[in-house]
Amino acid sequence: MSYSSTKKILIIGATGQLGRLCLRVFSSEKYQVLGTGFSRLSSGLVPLDLSKEGQAAEVVSRVRPDIAVICGAMTDVEGCESSREKAFQINLKSPADIAREMKKIPGGKLVFLSTDYVFDGTSGPYDENSLTHPLNIYGESKLEGEKAVLEVSDKNLVVRTTTVYSFQAGGNNFTMQLLKRLSQKEKMLVASDQWATPTYAQDLALALEKLLEVDARGIIHAAGPDFVSRLDFAQEAARILKLDPNLIQGFLTSELKQKAKRPLKAGLRTERLQMVGHLMRGIREGLYDFAENLRKSFIK
Ligand SMILES: NC(=O)c1ccc[n+]([C@@H]2O[C@H](COP(=O)([O-])OP(=O)(O)OC[C@H]3O[C@@H](n4cnc5c(N)ncnc54)[C@H](OP(=O)(O)O)[C@@H]3O)[C@@H](O)[C@H]2O)c1
Repeated sequence: MSYSSTKKILIIGATGQLGRLCLRVFSSEKYQVLGTGFSRLSSGLVPLDLSKEGQAAEVVSRVRPDIAVICGAMTDVEGCESSREKAFQINLKSPADIAREMKKIPGGKLVFLSTDYVFDGTSGPYDENSLTHPLNIYGESKLEGEKAVLEVSDKNLVVRTTTVYSFQAGGNNFTMQLLKRLSQKEKMLVASDQWATPTYAQDLALALEKLLEVDARGIIHAAGPDFVSRLDFAQEAARILKLDPNLIQGFLTSELKQKAKRPLKAGLRTERLQMVGHLMRGIREGLYDFAENLRKSFIK
C-alpha cells in the first residue's frame, strides 16, 4: 500500500488503558498513527488538556487527521460528581469541538468512546436502542458527548463499552488493582450487586479497527459476552491468576455511601458488532490472556 493511501489517525488519550492499545493496533501500513497525552505525556505524543477550552480544536486543526478516536475522558466517576463543570468540559464540550474541527476536514471521521453508564441499570444488558437514563454526572456528560458528536456529522461513530480490563504495567484498572492487592495478601472489597459485561481491552481496540474498516456509523456497543457481577468477575480473575479468592469480600453498593449513584444491572448487548463479524472474548479467555501477559512481563 502506498504512503498516500494511508490514513492519518489521531488517538486522543493515547496514554490510557485503551488508547495505548489503539496506538499499537493502528500502527500498521494502513494508518499513520499519532497520539495525545495529558498527565502521562511521553515523547512522541502531542500534549493535550481536554479540560482547557479551545485546546482540543487547536490540536485537531494543526494535526488534520483523517480519523480521530477520543479515548480520553474524565473517567473518575466520583470526581465527576464533585467537578461537574470539568466533567462536562472534558466529556462533552471538547469532544463537540473536535467533531466540528473534524467536519472541516474532507472525509473526516470521529469515533467517541462512551459507556453503559448512560443507562440506569434497571434492565441490562442493554442494546443500542435501549432508553438512556444516566444516574450520575459521568453518565450524563458522556451521553451529552455522544449526542453532540453524532449531531455534527452522520459519519461519526459512538462506541459504548463497559468494565474494560487488561494487563497494563503500572496501570490502575480494576484487574490491576486486584492483582496488586491480592499479591500483597491484602483484602479487596468488591460490589456483589453491580452487573456488567466485562470487556477485554485488546478486543475492544481490535473492534475499533474493524468498525473503521467497515465505516460503521451511529451507535455501536462493544463489550464482552459474559453478564456477571463484579464479585464473580473478581473471583474468576483471582482463580485464573492463582491468587487467593478468599481475600475478596462482597459488599452492596448501598453500603458504600458513594456520591455518584451506580447503575446496578448494566452491561451491553453486542448483536450489532457481531453482525460486522467481530467477536469479543469472554472473561475466562480474556483473563487467561491477561495471565499470559503478566507471565511475559516477568521474563522481560
Ligand atoms: N475503563 C472502563 O471500564 C470504561 C468503561 C466504559 C467506558 N469507558 C470509556 O472508554 C474510554 C477509554 O477508557 P480507559 O479505560 O482507556 O480510560 P483511562 O485508562 O482512565 O484513560 C483515560 C485517558 O484520558 C486521558 N485524560 C484524562 N484527563 C484528561 C484531560 N484533562 N485532557 C486530556 N486527556 C485526559 C488520560 O491521559 P493521561 O493518562 O495522560 O492523564 C488517559 O489517556 C473512555 O472514554 C471511557 O469513558 C471506559
